[in-house]
Amino acid sequence: MAPSLAVVHDALHRLLEERVWRTLEALVTQDGARARCAFEEFATALDEHMGVEDLLVIPAWRPLAPRDGPGRVDHLEGDHVVLVRLVREISAFLPEPMDLRTTLQRLPSVYRLLGVLEHHTVREDAVYRALEERLASEDRATLTAAHLALVERLRDR
Ligand SMILES: [Fe+2]
Ligand SMILES: [Fe+2]
Repeated sequence: MAPSLAVVHDALHRLLEERVWRTLEALVTQDGARARCAFEEFATALDEHMGVEDLLVIPAWRPLAPRDGPGRVDHLEGDHVVLVRLVREISAFLPEPMDLRTTLQRLPSVYRLLGVLEHHTVREDAVYRALEERLASEDRATLTAAHLALVERLRDR
């Protein structure tokens, strides 16, 4: 039996969140190289993931989404915009070596990213569960394969 798209999607988001936690762990020990490495893995995978969602998930969800309340399309799209902005902000300061004070001043951006991501995970979980049975089987297979490939890439590294 094919794996559930919603379950694979949730696993992928957990792995993405784990990369942000690893970035935080590295930052608080002032290990800039490790923070950069964890964050680059996160940013690359997130970018790929959101690209697939923008192409297949949001257009499929648009005709089914409520105009008000949880699941609104503009909320999902707004999350993606905020995530891109925060990733850019963090990527811009991670190449620099940081003293303790600078590190502490920059930690809030990473916590903000984690908060937005966690919130987005909850929103999308509901969307994927509602959408899963309604997707054309070809789109469902494409999405599941794309998400599984990222899960494999991020798992156990
Ligand atoms: Fe998303
Ligand atoms: Fe997602």
